[in-house]
Amino acid sequence: FDAVDVIAAKRDGRTLSKDQIDWVIDAYTRGVVADEQMAALAMAIFLNDMGAEEIAHWTQAMIASGERMDFSSLSRTTSDKHSTGGVGDKITLPLAPLVAVFDVAVPQLSGRGLGHTGGTLDKLEAIPGWQAGLSNEEILGQLEDIGAVICAAGSGLAPADKKLYALRDTTATVDCIPLIASSIMSKKIAEGTAGLVLDVKVGSGAFMKDIEKARRLARTMVDLGVRAGVKTSALLTDMSTPLGLTVGNALEVRESVEVLAGGGPADVVDLTVALAEEMLRLAGKTDVDVRAALDDGRAMDKWNAMIRAQHGDPDAPLPVAKDTEVVFAPEAGVLTKLDALSVGVASWRLGAGRVRKEDPVQAVAGIELHAKPGDTVAAGDKLMTLHTDTPERFERALEALVGAYEIGGDAASVPASIVLET
Ligand code: URA
Repeated sequence: FDAVDVIAAKRDGRTLSKDQIDWVIDAYTRGVVADEQMAALAMAIFLNDMGAEEIAHWTQAMIASGERMDFSSLSRTTSDKHSTGGVGDKITLPLAPLVAVFDVAVPQLSGRGLGHTGGTLDKLEAIPGWQAGLSNEEILGQLEDIGAVICAAGSGLAPADKKLYALRDTTATVDCIPLIASSIMSKKIAEGTAGLVLDVKVGSGAFMKDIEKARRLARTMVDLGVRAGVKTSALLTDMSTPLGLTVGNALEVRESVEVLAGGGPADVVDLTVALAEEMLRLAGKTDVDVRAALDDGRAMDKWNAMIRAQHGDPDAPLPVAKDTEVVFAPEAGVLTKLDALSVGVASWRLGAGRVRKEDPVQAVAGIELHAKPGDTVAAGDKLMTLHTDTPERFERALEALVGAYEIGGDAASVPASIVLET
């Protein structure tokens, strides 16, 4: 094969064969196909799309570029969740220990955040002592002993995707359904989970801004999972406003612990429970009272065990920001809009996220919300509190919040439920 022929085929709108795809992914991983050639191919795919078979071959080729984990030696089945990412999305933290209560193991191999959406590992690293890096043996051991692990995905899973995702990031080819679906699913299938629930976010704070595109992404990913023998399903959930009342690493850990203690904001609890029920259903468990495990401390016991197993101290106080700044409601009324993307960008500018992969994040930075869409506020009420250790960041963060919220007469635009479609 020749890279130029493969690029030309896709440029001219033809379907790539399995052999062409296997060759180009393998050659790119080995450095035989150059970055500029892969960038041209990614742009051709962006413009001319791929069919279902092509996406499946592409995904299989990315899986074949690295190692696969194998959980078949465990005494219980596995079920995992993947979210396409959103503002204040800390659901993995309460969800993994909650599902483990019901004797289903949760292998949550996660990443760090880039851009305005926070990474699960960045959040957990706010806990004193907690370690993200585990060997494959340690992952298996913790899944057998405790039933839940949230840790860094090793570099061995789908290395072709690692290279390609970074290239897409610099060539305006991220926002492409076949490339997103194959990127996410190659990593999840290589991870070896038996069941997978996809939380596909819709709204300003998500990749997919409209529900039609979100549906297509969900269907494409479910199809890839099912073809690979993974029990896969998807929920479409709202990301027009942040999830819960906190955005930022330590702040989100605090809220997750509130949920594990039987409290926490209703949207976070409802989504955690909906995803847990779906993960358990895929594992064959339908007759379970998930909420009870949040109320009676069983999920909290699992959380404590999971954090301790990775050298974290679940009883240690979480770090708190040195500086805060409050945004007040300019008038009385109903909060009709609180834009997820604007709050995400503001939190990012406060130091909760990174611009380059190598950047550090502040554990303490972020935003605490005092009202959500649908709530009534009086003039002068606190709307949100900004947190950071570097107060020179307040100005740019406040700029991101200009126009981010609206106070009006009625709340008709607030979705009735966090889960939009299943
Ligand atoms: N997340 C991924 O892992 N890959 C994408 O392409 C987009 C989001």
